[in-house]
Amino acid sequence: MSEFSDSAKLLIDNQEIDLDVYTGVEGERSIDITSLYKDHQLTTYDPSLGNTAICRSSITYIDGERGVLRYRGIPIEQFDRPKPNFIEVAWALIFGRLPDQEELDQFREILTNNELLHEGMLGQFMTLPVDAPPMAILSAMISMMACYHKEFLLLEDEKILMGAAARLISKVRTIAAFTYRRSMGLPFIYPDPNMRYCANFLHMMFSLPYKQFAVSEEMEDALNLILILHADHEQNCSASAVRVVCSAQANLFASCSAGVNALWGPLHGGANVKVMEMLESIYRGGYRAEDCIKAAKDRNNPFRLFGFGHRVYRNYDPRAKILKSACDRLFNKLKHNDPLLDIARKLEELALKDPYFVDRKLYPNVDFYSGILLRAMGIPTNMFTVMFAMGRLPGWIAQWKEQHFADGAKIIRPRQLYVGNPKSNYIEMERR
Ligand code: SDX
Repeated sequence: MSEFSDSAKLLIDNQEIDLDVYTGVEGERSIDITSLYKDHQLTTYDPSLGNTAICRSSITYIDGERGVLRYRGIPIEQFDRPKPNFIEVAWALIFGRLPDQEELDQFREILTNNELLHEGMLGQFMTLPVDAPPMAILSAMISMMACYHKEFLLLEDEKILMGAAARLISKVRTIAAFTYRRSMGLPFIYPDPNMRYCANFLHMMFSLPYKQFAVSEEMEDALNLILILHADHEQNCSASAVRVVCSAQANLFASCSAGVNALWGPLHGGANVKVMEMLESIYRGGYRAEDCIKAAKDRNNPFRLFGFGHRVYRNYDPRAKILKSACDRLFNKLKHNDPLLDIARKLEELALKDPYFVDRKLYPNVDFYSGILLRAMGIPTNMFTVMFAMGRLPGWIAQWKEQHFADGAKIIRPRQLYVGNPKSNYIEMERR
């Protein structure tokens, strides 16, 4: 726990209020206002919580000014390695350190033994419209896990939590693949217990009965890397939604379903779909990148450069940098070319030297290049945010665990500034 290291004074109504100041591991400072309302009937106003620390966390560190992202202290760049391993990173985020081989094998075994859906859940899944939004299906199915896995509603020790986490991570992959297959009118391809997490997902997505999809090493590595880069991002909108629901002592499934629903928003995880739609419309319309940049700067034009800008990064999102070079690597190996990548590169080149973007510190974020990689794998645009959720799930579980087991954790219940009617009276209908 970071200790009080400093103090601050708030002067109001000619009264000095002494406040303690916490200092985090990286020197960031936070003024403790936890007794401001109790002692002084004062609140602070911060509607998007961009200036408010809602927790102490040891999972992920971001320095937005310097474009730094670390999972459990490890710089994100170090996970861009020859054989990236999403499940290893998932374990580290949830349990606080890199697993040894025995721990990783044990976790893998639980994932493998729980990759099928309960037949009752599958029956419910089959009642959903085949063209339902995939994020609506995912959110509903994660909530439904509370109906079919009631043994994981109370998670009071790490062993049970590991079981719940593995089931969620494994079954979300199956739900995603089955959602795609059903939308395409294709038969389900069941998971192969002899395949690793990402290869198995691609197998379930693209194999046919009696015709196994050949998962290339490059694609398996690229998918591991994409999921790793999405795995956590400290107190982003969806992680905070998970924490808020968790703080009411709601179960892990209910909290992660809330995370899915927050991620769905186009300003958050839904941006990867909007980026692809934007690039595709530019390509199909034959628009010049210069004209798109102009439109994005025009306040009277609703067009935004999706995949650009970030609440925290006021520098290049380190994940976007890694994804951009992963596109180059994969495309070179697959001898693949995608005109949308050329458009994305051109937009980035123009934006990074345009005062509108430079002055507002708007740089490519994780969503700007992720969709191009997913598309190269044959994953359809409407599944992109589901892929983001698959990656983010270990982060939500880690945030839930930290919130649930935090000493003295209370229900998260913000205050408000009331700007409504002063006290008034009920008016009978005949007098209205
Ligand atoms: C994710 O929080 C996380 O960590 C999220 C995430 C994660 O891993 O969980 O990183 C994942 O959600 C990435 C962000 C995905 N969203 C998008 O790509 C949507 C496009 N980006 C924007 O909507 C916006 O940049 C946000 C929502 C991401 C950030 O919003 P801010 O910080 O509140 O910025 P803002 O909306 O207040 O904009 C500040 C200025 C405005 O102009 P002015 O009023 O100063 O004239 O920048 C402009 C905005 O109009 N601006 C953009 C822009 N983003 C901001 N102008 C054109 N195109 C854009 N994309």
